[in-house]
Amino acid sequence: MTDSSDTVSMLGAVPFFSGLDEKKRKSLVSEGKEMSYKAGDFVVREGAMGVGFYLILDGKAEVRKGEKTLATLGRGQFFGEMSLIDELPRSADVIAISPIRCWALTSWAFAALVKSNPEVALHMLKEMVKRLRAAQSSPTS
Ligand code: CMP
Repeated sequence: MTDSSDTVSMLGAVPFFSGLDEKKRKSLVSEGKEMSYKAGDFVVREGAMGVGFYLILDGKAEVRKGEKTLATLGRGQFFGEMSLIDELPRSADVIAISPIRCWALTSWAFAALVKSNPEVALHMLKEMVKRLRAAQSSPTS
């Protein structure tokens, strides 16, 4: 649990939460947890069951499937939503490529966040569509 005002203002600065007022951000921050990883750490492993949703506060991570890098994610970007939405195993590895700090939510807090904040759900859908389009236009291996 964290309720630092730093995290509250940081969440306000990332597009994912910019539609939420400070009161909502404050209550959200208290539901999540800050997690830190070193470069090279696996934050999420392909095939594992998903228990968390992650928003990157600082640093960079790579989404990899086998040898293929699907995306590089940085501050303000999220990962781990797929497994929580369809309740299937993680679709890819997510590996820190620099020291990273994430704000993480449990699956049940994630479900409540999406259900009660349409602006967050819409932002997430837009980003997922963007990722789908990028995947469709990338050459198949
Ligand atoms: P999940 O399947 O729970 O765990 C791995 C995560 O990697 C996945 O959720 C997405 O958040 C992310 N991910 C999977 N495929 C892509 C992709 N093509 N582009 C960006 N992120 C992805």
